[in-house]
Amino acid sequence: TKMLKQETTVTPPPHILIFPVPLQGHVNSMLNLAEILCLSGLHVTILLSDYTHRRLLRHASLDSRFSRYATAFRVATISDGLPDDHPRSGHRILDIVLSLKEVGGPQFRRLMESSDGGGRQRVSCLIMDGVFSFAIPVVEEMGIPFVYFRTISACSFWPYFCIQEIIDAGEVPLKDKNEDKLTFWKKKEMDLMVTSVPGMEKLLRRRDIPAFCRVEDVNDPGFQSIKTETKKTAQATALILNTFEDLEGPVLDQIRKHIPNLYSIGPLHSHLKSLLKEKGIESSHHSSSFWKEDNTCIAWLDSQPPNSVIYVSFGSITMLTKDELLEFWYGLVNSGYTFLWVVRPDSVIGDRDEIPVEIEEGTRLRGLMVEWVPQELVLGHESVGAFLTHSGWNSTLEGIVIGVPMLCWPYFADQTTNSRFVSEVWEIGLDMKDTCDRVLIERMVREVMGVRREELLKKACGMANLAKKAICEGGSSYMNLNRLIEFFKSTVL
Ligand code: UDX
Repeated sequence: TKMLKQETTVTPPPHILIFPVPLQGHVNSMLNLAEILCLSGLHVTILLSDYTHRRLLRHASLDSRFSRYATAFRVATISDGLPDDHPRSGHRILDIVLSLKEVGGPQFRRLMESSDGGGRQRVSCLIMDGVFSFAIPVVEEMGIPFVYFRTISACSFWPYFCIQEIIDAGEVPLKDKNEDKLTFWKKKEMDLMVTSVPGMEKLLRRRDIPAFCRVEDVNDPGFQSIKTETKKTAQATALILNTFEDLEGPVLDQIRKHIPNLYSIGPLHSHLKSLLKEKGIESSHHSSSFWKEDNTCIAWLDSQPPNSVIYVSFGSITMLTKDELLEFWYGLVNSGYTFLWVVRPDSVIGDRDEIPVEIEEGTRLRGLMVEWVPQELVLGHESVGAFLTHSGWNSTLEGIVIGVPMLCWPYFADQTTNSRFVSEVWEIGLDMKDTCDRVLIERMVREVMGVRREELLKKACGMANLAKKAICEGGSSYMNLNRLIEFFKSTVL
């Protein structure tokens, strides 16, 4: 016993370095994974950009969330190379990826070489987001295995993985140089089926493949970067996806043909909650937000009848033109339903002062407009009857877990594929991509809140039950997570 005791005190647990793209959606998923690993007794360092770390310090409650894990959880930072006043939203988020590609490598090397673990093991495995392959040579030289964690859906990862095949089939580029993009996207050509993504031949139209493929030239730097980075996933020891087998089984099987070590362990946010409960820990709400959460909306929701409110949020990156904002506003108001609408301070293109005052005044009669909310609490509120969403993957999973019907208005990236699956595969919502018209919005809000709600709700509740099953003892995500943790433990042997 004496020997054993000595051994457990001298051998610290494996130390995992987690490196997300420093954006809200990615950081949320990665923090959930970080906490799950801490709960399982592992040591974790999360690597953030200075900028993102400062925003979290200002608005989130990381300290109280992770205090129970003491030194098992730490934050390290590097510079993303962009000036503080860079917008870091809308299509400009690609600048973060391209800039980190420039300045990240040497910083990452310094961090890895200088890190003695601070009383912990040296890093025994790296978990990284999809676009930071500059980290690969560093960890390979040091003999440290790396694992990819793509925070997107399997159904959007797979077309990304097949980009070369899509190009070879002449199904990308999607946009004509000489045409205005909005006119082009409305064209019939966008409704042609994509035949080069195995398993999705009868499902994906050109407008449904990830919107980063909407380029006029395949040499577009952002597009090229995504293409080459995604291919590198196959070099990793394993791939983690925030999804579950009953949701995306057939697509996961396609990916496994190329990346057999694939762990589907989602939906992570509810998986974490269930593990906390299993360990008898109360999971109170801790903000991980880059913006200040407005909690007054909860009291407002309390005052509304059950299922009467449509919750509207387009995530952390989407930017609306003033015209789009007005179309949504008229559509929502004319639908006659009450709405809770998140409009981030940086989400309207141009001068906010030019927005007609009628918007704010009219909203007071029909709903509530706020800058940022605790979304999981809002979605779980009994007054919320449907979710008008941009189909970001976290939002989609949060909606699936609650079992709320969705109305999808994808903005870009993986969202155009997610919304197709929501409407055509899972049949838990409606997809209005590539349109933004007040008459259509009014009609679709009425459908999702009224005439089609029962039918969508039935499917949504079915999927919510399958999500619960996946994360319970014996469920697919539960077992995959156990296997993953065993793998991490083996990295220090
Ligand atoms: C983006 C991509 O769209 C997404 O698909 C990818 O996986 C990660 O990066 P984002 O556009 O912000 O993220 O959307 P989403 O993935 O839905 O993440 C937004 C997160 O912010 C969600 O976890 C949501 O709960 C949270 N949120 C949103 C709030 O907490 N409050 C709000 O008011 C709005």
